[in-house]
Amino acid sequence: MSKKQYDLDDLPRFSRWPARLLGAEEWQPKSKTAAEVAREYEHEKWGPLLKIVRNAGRGMTVHDADKVVFADLSPQLCSVGRSFRMLTAMAAHRRHIDLVVSALERFQPCNALVELGAGYGTIILRLAKLPGFRRTPIIAGEFAPSGVGLIELLARAQKTNIVAGACDFASSPLVEFQIPEGALIYTSMATPCVPMLDGSFIDQLVAMQPKAVVHVEPCYEHCDTDTLLGSMRRRYIEINDYNRNLVTLLRKYQKQGALQIVAERRAVFGTNPLLCSSVIAWVPEKRRPARDRSKRRAR
Ligand SMILES: C[S@@+](CC[C@H](N)C(=O)[O-])C[C@H]1O[C@@H](n2cnc3c(N)ncnc32)[C@H](O)[C@@H]1O
Repeated sequence: MSKKQYDLDDLPRFSRWPARLLGAEEWQPKSKTAAEVAREYEHEKWGPLLKIVRNAGRGMTVHDADKVVFADLSPQLCSVGRSFRMLTAMAAHRRHIDLVVSALERFQPCNALVELGAGYGTIILRLAKLPGFRRTPIIAGEFAPSGVGLIELLARAQKTNIVAGACDFASSPLVEFQIPEGALIYTSMATPCVPMLDGSFIDQLVAMQPKAVVHVEPCYEHCDTDTLLGSMRRRYIEINDYNRNLVTLLRKYQKQGALQIVAERRAVFGTNPLLCSSVIAWVPEKRRPARDRSKRRAR
């Protein structure tokens, strides 16, 4: 793919979003309801993919599934730090996975590796094969039942033992399976599906006492309103009804002493320049005996 560097002025040639954001092209704002998410993922994306994998009659791997998803897509303008690069859809996807891998590195080893909102398992199934995670229990939660089915089938094809089950960031319980203490939990491009996360999402994660939680997610609060690009990203998130409070919530919980944010890298990479992922990692406050906690409050 071309090494030419692009900038914001090039974006309208490759995306209809600048015209939509400027009101030059009509666009009906959407609400990210659970029904809308089910339409997109269960019915339009993972459901049909599950049929393909089931009907293939041979053990399709996650790489085969990626080809179905990405091979026919046109090259796309991606956001890499402050610049723009044209990448094939597959190269862009790999680059996003590399970002997840690098964000998790410092928290290894861990008692389990857990992805929540794992889609069809394109990331977690790759991570399961990395030397650092080969002996680690692998767990995946996903909102769409067909996604859970895909994760199980694709894991079988690569001989990975995996626990996969239902997960909903907007519900309590968050997951329908056990997550051991000391797990490394991450999310990738999944929190946008819940416009406003509730505090119980964080409460439940903290209660799992993970080693760390890493979000590789587009963060509304990281869109810098001093720049045209940042303002466009905010507007894009607003009219698509994507998440707008992940960072706010984490900062609030940090202030209350429930967790500590240990890494925060803003808008690092976006396969879509208007939905650029940040990395934000946090660790829960260590559980101390009740006597200790009351001493601290009394001080
Ligand atoms: C863009 S895909 C990302 C999949 C995968 N994490 C990745 O990075 O390739 C978003 C995923 O989030 C899931 N999702 C949507 N709403 C969710 C919710 N409320 N709780 C958990 N996952 C959700 C979708 O079903 C979908 O599989």
